[in-house]
Amino acid sequence: MNSRRQFLNRLAAAGGGLSLLSFADPVFAAEAEDIMKKMSAREEAGDVEDEEFWGWVRSSFTVSPNIINLNNGGVAPQPKVVQDAHIRFYQYCNEAPSYYMWQILDQGREPLREKLAGLCGCSAEEVAINRNATEGLNSIIFGLNLKAGDEVILTKQDYPNMMNAWKQREKRDGIKLVWLNLPLPLENEADIAKYYINAFTPKTKVVHVTHLINWVGQITPVKMIAQAAHQRGIEVIADGAHTLGHFEFKVPDLECDYFASSLHKWLSAPFGSGLLYIKKDKIKNIWALLSNNEPDGPDIRKFESLGTRSFASEMAIGTAVDFHDIIGGARKERRLRYLKDYWVNQVKNIPGVSFNQPVNPKLSCAIANVSIKGKKPEEVSGELFNKYKIHTVAINWEDIHGVRVTPNVYTSTKDLDKLAGAIRKIAS
Ligand SMILES: Cc1ncc(COP(=O)(O)O)c(C=O)c1O
Repeated sequence: MNSRRQFLNRLAAAGGGLSLLSFADPVFAAEAEDIMKKMSAREEAGDVEDEEFWGWVRSSFTVSPNIINLNNGGVAPQPKVVQDAHIRFYQYCNEAPSYYMWQILDQGREPLREKLAGLCGCSAEEVAINRNATEGLNSIIFGLNLKAGDEVILTKQDYPNMMNAWKQREKRDGIKLVWLNLPLPLENEADIAKYYINAFTPKTKVVHVTHLINWVGQITPVKMIAQAAHQRGIEVIADGAHTLGHFEFKVPDLECDYFASSLHKWLSAPFGSGLLYIKKDKIKNIWALLSNNEPDGPDIRKFESLGTRSFASEMAIGTAVDFHDIIGGARKERRLRYLKDYWVNQVKNIPGVSFNQPVNPKLSCAIANVSIKGKKPEEVSGELFNKYKIHTVAINWEDIHGVRVTPNVYTSTKDLDKLAGAIRKIAS
């Protein structure tokens, strides 16, 4: 109790910007405070290789010590503090659910909205808390007022759930879908934007842009596309499932009208957590998918009428934001880029090995996609797992055939040395 009080006193005296008090584990909070002090005194450029710091980050997770997980693009694990918060909130709820969930935990909803708005760089009145990008994007796709003949631009490289949602609207409402086929990877922002812009017609009402294309890790120039779209009165939806917490940007800087992300990916929040951003003046134009008393009203909260769900997992999102802030978004991005380059550089000159992600650092971050000549992606991913216990994912989508490899902040360079060694053997 004494050391806890001392720790709280130190924190109060420090008065720092980050709310370490939200970490219930005083040992973790004290360690975090020390490591943050050390990091802030160090050279920025060297922080990507600071294995003391990244070792501490790794020890904050509970990942398998025996299987190397390199499919963090699918879904990320949560640091232990996030798991603990989730479990703790869940246990409170079970003491008297309607009291603890609806009267106690729910008091955290508006502060959480503020925190997420801080991460997005927008107003809290533009952020709805939901379960994932699928829910957010479906809210927009089905909530927009569109009539038969209106055109929507999307690509064959978008995410299947979203393509299916648009196909449902096509079938049901007679809108026209205009499909682009992007030859990935693309290395130039203006070239990517041109594919979309060339498809605009007077009937185009919406353009659906995947901010980071999951199959190969291609980042797209949403802002460039949005600026051209807005000149023609076309609305822009950005699928940011993979981008919030992955690399640094502010949502309003994308200049899109709608943006949705999954927080269980790069923010390492509880499974089944997401957010939806809508530009303030657009909220009233979108019908709520799960209706409330004002389905065409201007309040972003109309997208949260889901009914009874786990408030425990929602509220633990706040702990994930705090953990992300300890690492720092910019430092996290630097480390992710470092890890991707670390293994790619080891294998890129091996005969038969090629890559499907962009080389341009502006257009890719942590995700890479590797092919080995003469082998199907599933053969490579199968061998990686069966022989080396390295978990990746085989991608066969349109013209893309490769194995997607996605490290995260807890991934060690040792793990990536094993990956590089395994690829060398498979390629030979
Ligand atoms: C580009 C893209 N959009 C949307 C999604 C859907 O995410 P979720 O299943 O979390 O809703 C994914 C999932 O991987 C994705 O890669």
